[in-house]
Amino acid sequence: MKSSILFLFGVFLSYGTSCPDVCECTAEGRVRCSGNFTNVPSFMPLHTYYVELKKTRIQNLTDRSLLNLPLVLRLSITQNPLQVIHPEAFYPVPQLLSLKLSFNKISNLSSQVFSNLASLEQLYIDNNKLDSLKPEWFDTLTNLTQLDASRNFLTHLDRNIFEKLTKLWFLNLGKNFLSKLPDGVFSSLINLEHLLVYENQLEILSSETFKSQTKLRVLKLFKNRISCIPPQLFWPLSNLEILSISSNKLHYFPEETFYSLPHITTLNLFKNPLVFLPDQLIGHMPKLKEFILYSTNLITVPNNLFYNMSGLEKLSLNYNPKLHHLPKDIFCCLPKLRRLSLQRNDLEFLDPDLFVNLSNLSTLIIHSNKLHQLSNNIFHSLTKLSEVQLHGNHFKNLPSSVLSSVVALRNVSLKDNPWNCNCRILDLAGWISHHRTLVQDYEHVSCYIPSYLLEKTVGSMNSILLQCEVTENPPIKISSTTSSTSPSVQTSSHSFQVEGDQLTDIVIISIWKTTSATPQMSSSMDLVHQSTTEDSLSYSPSYTFYDTVILEAEPDIVHNSRLNRLVFLWTLPTSGTYSKFLISLQILLITMGAALIVAGVCVFQYVQSFTEKFNHV
Ligand SMILES: *[C@@H]1O[C@H](CO)[C@@H](O)[C@H](O)[C@H]1NC(C)=O
Ligand SMILES: *[C@@H]1O[C@H](CO)[C@@H](O)[C@H](O)[C@H]1NC(C)=O
Repeated sequence: MKSSILFLFGVFLSYGTSCPDVCECTAEGRVRCSGNFTNVPSFMPLHTYYVELKKTRIQNLTDRSLLNLPLVLRLSITQNPLQVIHPEAFYPVPQLLSLKLSFNKISNLSSQVFSNLASLEQLYIDNNKLDSLKPEWFDTLTNLTQLDASRNFLTHLDRNIFEKLTKLWFLNLGKNFLSKLPDGVFSSLINLEHLLVYENQLEILSSETFKSQTKLRVLKLFKNRISCIPPQLFWPLSNLEILSISSNKLHYFPEETFYSLPHITTLNLFKNPLVFLPDQLIGHMPKLKEFILYSTNLITVPNNLFYNMSGLEKLSLNYNPKLHHLPKDIFCCLPKLRRLSLQRNDLEFLDPDLFVNLSNLSTLIIHSNKLHQLSNNIFHSLTKLSEVQLHGNHFKNLPSSVLSSVVALRNVSLKDNPWNCNCRILDLAGWISHHRTLVQDYEHVSCYIPSYLLEKTVGSMNSILLQCEVTENPPIKISSTTSSTSPSVQTSSHSFQVEGDQLTDIVIISIWKTTSATPQMSSSMDLVHQSTTEDSLSYSPSYTFYDTVILEAEPDIVHNSRLNRLVFLWTLPTSGTYSKFLISLQILLITMGAALIVAGVCVFQYVQSFTEKFNHV
């Protein structure tokens, strides 16, 4: 009684143009309401065609809730604790075109609840607690074009559930618990363009599943448990643009799975435990601009995997922890490729011609692999390459020509490699220090070997610091007396050709100045750099560099002298005016020394026997 009086009162009031307190009403007839009310506000302007009830406390819709909205076309009741909808709640609004009930708590709807909504085009019942869709709901919804039932608790679908929905072009069943799609469940959806069944528990797809979806443009099947797909499953989908079957349990794809999909712009296959790919997999896909394949168990890929992706601009073949080998011509036919990501694979080796055809490449990311070498010309033809990420590999050295050949280089990263700071790195160190603005991680490109240079930047290495001399390896024997009274030091030529290993047997020898030797700078002589830059060791001008030289392995006789703050190191030539004289002198000295020792011993023995005799007496 009370409510009917209220109702009459409401009808009376609503003839005005007043807007309920909790709502905002526009002159054209849009009404938005939210707040702590529990019933649909009754006093809306009569010409209201759009109603949005959001974040209210409405828990149920009764058969009268919508009574005074005779013109409403779009009704949205979202983010409420709405649980119960009277079977006849929508009877007063048969003209509805859109009904949005998303983000409520609906778990149960009567079979007839939509039975008078023959005009309905959009039905959104996503984000509720439905555990099934009732076939009766859709009996009259023959004009439905969009249906969203995602994020519910659906576990199964009736085989005929969508039978009448021939106009449907959008269907979202994502984020439910469907383990199976019944045979032919989509067979009457001939106008379907978007089919979303992602994040369910699908395991198997029958070969007929998408048979009638010739207009389909978007198919999302990601995050299911699909472990195998029938051959030619996608072949009817000749208009498909987006196909995502990532994050499933696929170990392989049948041959030619992605043939006859000429309109594809997005193809997501990543995050599947793929162990191998067949030789014939990808058909002609000229519109594909980006392809991502990561998180697989692939060890290698067929050399023609990308043959048909001729329009590709970005390719990410990364985060495949077992990907060890890339075929030589894998990137043969990607003339438009601008960005190539190969990071975090298991690559140890790259073919010298791997990138040779990527004439448009501007970014190359190969960090975090196990590369220990790059061939001199590997980037040679990449005239547009401006960014190269090489950090986190196993490089101990790199020929500087690898980098200097990159004419457009603007950014390179080199840190986290076990750089071996021996004389062979001078080439690279020189390049780095001259191009330090290009080396983004300059401060962190540091020596790993030898241990006493640990954490020193590679860019600061120079031949003084590394005690480098470039000799053609002749072991030279010289002897020398000159003015010195100390015995001569005899050593043999030291070689810096030790490949990438730790410095061993560090010998510290002392060297004296030879005044006689003229500092001729033969080609075998290494002119040591002036030690003026701050990075090179702190040789203060007064530092007596003459006395100690640190050499690896077998030490050589090294002479040095200083001229205008330059330090020269050189070795004595094997043949020379004095060498024979010096050698004979040394032999003479040694013989004399030996003779003296023998004589000393004799004298000692003689004295000893004499004293014994004397004691006897
Ligand atoms: C919920 O569904 C059951 C049948 O499954 C039915 O008996 C019950 O009346 C329904 N409740 C509501 C509120 O519609
Ligand atoms: C490329 O596509 C064409 C046509 O779809 C197909 O015949 C050919 O075998 C494909 N090539 C590869 C390497 O898959």
